[in-house]
Amino acid sequence: MKMNNDYLSIKSLKVEYMQNGQAFSALDSVDLSLPQGKTGVIIGPSGCGKSTLLNVLAGLNPRYSGEVLIEGQPPAGGGKTALILQDYGLLPWKTVWDNVILGMQLRKKTPRETKTATEAVLDKLGLLPMARRYPTQLSGGQRQRVAIARALILDPKLLLMDEPFSSLDALTREDIQDFLLEIWEETKLTILLITHNIEEAVFLGQKIFIMSPGPGKIEQVVDNKMAGDYNLRGRVQFLEMCSFLRSFLHRRGNYELGA
Ligand SMILES: Nc1ncnc2c1ncn2[C@@H]1O[C@H](COP(=O)(O)OP(=O)(O)O)[C@@H](O)[C@H]1O
Ligand SMILES: [Mg+2]
Repeated sequence: MKMNNDYLSIKSLKVEYMQNGQAFSALDSVDLSLPQGKTGVIIGPSGCGKSTLLNVLAGLNPRYSGEVLIEGQPPAGGGKTALILQDYGLLPWKTVWDNVILGMQLRKKTPRETKTATEAVLDKLGLLPMARRYPTQLSGGQRQRVAIARALILDPKLLLMDEPFSSLDALTREDIQDFLLEIWEETKLTILLITHNIEEAVFLGQKIFIMSPGPGKIEQVVDNKMAGDYNLRGRVQFLEMCSFLRSFLHRRGNYELGA
């Protein structure tokens, strides 16, 4: 096993897809590293390969070349890594409770262990009163919290989130960002999150990775000391960092909002 100080280490990652019988490069020469317990945010234009990158890390796409290591091991999925998608991935025919216990059941936990852990995580996320509701009976922010609960109950070491808050209104979004930071402070998880939203990147990302248009690679890495400071939102330094990112992304020419 190769030793590396970074919890997450990607070197010369390349991913190709077949499109109409032709090989198409979605990612080329991607280098990225993130120490344990840090938050990283990836921001970049639509179609530059952000989801492709997260899928490789989640162990969902083994067809890549280059080196991808999580704690020194190639991504295997499950276990230590949790992936939260934009549409939350909740099963509409299952209640909040049943959605949250899915992963526990797959791991063959006893009913007693499952019940204790589920109550604890729902309580932590303020979802206990909604345990018997179905996803359609929840607001967007509540659904997102269910998705987070379902990931956290498995006690992951790495939390991957693919544009998790993009369908939420601005206020709900800020609440859930605060909430994610509380969880991060409590658990010291390593978090890698994709966003289109510049303010979100500055608020959440201790390291901000700016990707170039496809085939995507990491064009710029910004060490961001402002991440996680509630008081900084709206302050001058915060806005300056946002405006730096905005101008950088715009200079690339292809930056656009939308998935
Ligand atoms: N399964 C696939 N087969 C072929 N092409 C794909 C597949 N998934 C994604 N792509 C293409 O790869 C590129 C990167 O996609 P994606 O990773 O979803 O970008 P992003 O998440 O940054 O918007 C896009 O051009 C997309 O059309
Ligand atoms: Mg995507």
